[in-house]
Amino acid sequence: MANTEVNVVRTPCIEVKNIKKRYGSLEAVKDISFSVEQGSIFGMLGPNGAGKSTTIAMLLGLTRRDAGAVSVLGLDPEVDGSQLKSKVSAQLQSPALFGRLSVQELLGLFASFYPEPASVEDTIAMVQLQDKRHSQADSLSGGQKHRLAVGLAIVANSDIVFLDEPTTGLDPQTRRSIWDVMLHLRSQGRTVVLTTHYMDEAEKLCDQLIIVDQGTVVAQGRPRDLISSHFPQDALEFVNPDFSAGEMERLCQIDGVVDHCMAAAGEVVLYSKNASSTLVGLQELAGSCGRQLAEINLRRPTLDDLFLKITGRMMRS
Ligand SMILES: Nc1ncnc2c1ncn2[C@@H]1O[C@H](COP(=O)(O)OP(=O)(O)O)[C@@H](O)[C@H]1O
Ligand SMILES: [Mg+2]
Repeated sequence: MANTEVNVVRTPCIEVKNIKKRYGSLEAVKDISFSVEQGSIFGMLGPNGAGKSTTIAMLLGLTRRDAGAVSVLGLDPEVDGSQLKSKVSAQLQSPALFGRLSVQELLGLFASFYPEPASVEDTIAMVQLQDKRHSQADSLSGGQKHRLAVGLAIVANSDIVFLDEPTTGLDPQTRRSIWDVMLHLRSQGRTVVLTTHYMDEAEKLCDQLIIVDQGTVVAQGRPRDLISSHFPQDALEFVNPDFSAGEMERLCQIDGVVDHCMAAAGEVVLYSKNASSTLVGLQELAGSCGRQLAEINLRRPTLDDLFLKITGRMMRS
């Protein structure tokens, strides 16, 4: 029956409890806990410096944690690192590649490290490097190197694939192709752990996510649930026509408005439970103050709004 919800019991394949990591006086990871269901896409979302890569490094056993517990496929990466190596693969932010080898040679080499690798041909097609298969890694453009790094992670055909900002700096078309790769991995029952600072990416792809800021988890859940639980309203966005502090206060009195905040670069966002009467009230207020409103945009709240609400900052500032 189409509308019957099927409750699939999924087992966590990653469990992280209260991990911490300090570099000198800097607490890169203050306290992070989460678990990841097998066969899902799990997102770690947060601005630069939030502690995402450090967390991945601790999950892979590349960095020792100062405190807390980590279990990846039932193994502690610090204790059972060699056992874990054949079961997980990763695309890291600054990969060290053997630059003299060609795309095809590198993929073949990485495939040989794993017990049941994917086909090199299929992987080349998935990351769209068909034209570059015989090119040396060193000669690739930034975007192509990036796709090669993603390819090296997926050719492993491992149970868990870690992708650390796989789409940063890529053009929209290439981003979409990397999204397809992640969806393909999930359709095969693999688990993908993804870090990103692109909210749209997290919203579209992730079954579950944590939002990380300054080394701690500030929100977690399914993207849509997170948004609707914090914002049962619409967002009305417009360029601030130099409203005075007093006028800003009057904005909050407009019919339907439940909250307002200043976003980046002189933008105001009003959260409203009755968008049409808020729009009328906003026009009236602007008119009575002699202000001209421009670029009014009505939209559903996003993870960007959530981050702004929780931290008071824009994710990408
Ligand atoms: N090896 C290191 N030594 C010193 N500081 C580090 C090191 N690695 C990361 N950091 C610092 O830890 C913080 C978190 O970094 P990182 O985990 O890379 O964040 P993110 O991946 O979310 O951008 C940053 O302030 C970064 O400068
Ligand atoms: Mg990082």
